[in-house]
Amino acid sequence: MPVITCIEDLKRLHRRRAPRMFYDYAESGSWTEKTFRENTSDFEDIYLRQRVAVDMSGRSTKTQMIGEDVAMPVALAPVGLTGMQHADGEIKAARAAEKFGVPFTLSTMSINSIEEVAEATTKPFWFQLYTMTDEDFVSRLIQRAKDAKCSALVITLDLQILGQRHKDLKNGLSAPPKLTPSTIANLMTKWRWGIGMLGAKRRNFGNIVGHVKGVTDTADLGAWTAQSFDPSLDWDKIAKIKEQWGGKVILKGILDADDARMALKVGADAIIVSNHGGRQLDGAQSSIRALPSILEAVGDQVEVHLDSGIRSGQDVLKAVAMGASGTYIGRAFVYGLGAMGEAGVTKALEVIHKELDVSMALCGKRTLSEVDRDILMIPENFE
Ligand code: FNR
Repeated sequence: MPVITCIEDLKRLHRRRAPRMFYDYAESGSWTEKTFRENTSDFEDIYLRQRVAVDMSGRSTKTQMIGEDVAMPVALAPVGLTGMQHADGEIKAARAAEKFGVPFTLSTMSINSIEEVAEATTKPFWFQLYTMTDEDFVSRLIQRAKDAKCSALVITLDLQILGQRHKDLKNGLSAPPKLTPSTIANLMTKWRWGIGMLGAKRRNFGNIVGHVKGVTDTADLGAWTAQSFDPSLDWDKIAKIKEQWGGKVILKGILDADDARMALKVGADAIIVSNHGGRQLDGAQSSIRALPSILEAVGDQVEVHLDSGIRSGQDVLKAVAMGASGTYIGRAFVYGLGAMGEAGVTKALEVIHKELDVSMALCGKRTLSEVDRDILMIPENFE
């Protein structure tokens, strides 16, 4: 077993252990992948200010996100097909998050269903909603999330139209994978994954299959999904969904200050500055670059969270120092899951926590409330 010391180690192991089609699904951005690349390189361009001779005993990374206590300001982002990276991936990731004390967000496009994740966990998790043209289906999903006692609804706004990822088209991505000579050849090298999948609770989309008329297998599902994201989603519809839900709402996929003001107007409890991990509008700004203008517009009135590009605790620290009150990891936990299942997600969280704790200390900060922009050196052309 290799020694894991950073997220990059988990990524290498994920690549080795998960079927090519699913590793590529995680490790891709849309079109030229410019935004995907800049999400991480823009974090690297920010320097941290080292401070010395400050008492660093009694440090803590604890804080709150939407009023919930968290061990560190990091939630697991909603990720579709998580249960294809590792058998029962959503259940395993949710359990790891629960034990660590950070929120888990279940995607609409998950393999394990809302009910299965609820049964496997003891604390409330968050549910991410894609708005679909089938309003009945959306209403039922919202009701299912309520019945499962989910404590927040994360509505994703940046996927009315699906961005194009070249690798997924070339690989013929599907869940479970279609058997072609090349997928069979690849799957034969992924014995660990295959054995796990034989015992998995579920191998197709648990929130959808069996809940939509006429969708009983993967072939039906592919056709249904392609035409189901609602291209007419607007702020009125978002307000109606919020009313129907009645609980805490987080709006995900905001990159523009005017959109952030609209999110505030519809009463969001938090917004997530996000470009969907560079998977939607290629050429959009990285999230960390977009963050300052959004904070300036709404930062004193609503919680501002950030995702896209976080690969280390230092990235979390930089986002918090800029003014974000929470962050999310997508790929960073998926690498861990694909590498080692639940233990891998725990490892990803441990790595990020340690990096955050040590970096805070070396910047002379004991608690997150002491962290501010002063610890950052930001390039002049950044905003
Ligand atoms: C995603 N993301 C995503 N978002 C969402 O709202 N619903 C979803 O089903 C998915 N599915 C999904 C699959 C995969 C493989 C990835 C990598 C991402 C976006 C996700 O929630 C988050 O915004 C990004 O992952 C953040 O970027 P990083 O941390 O992956 O760089």
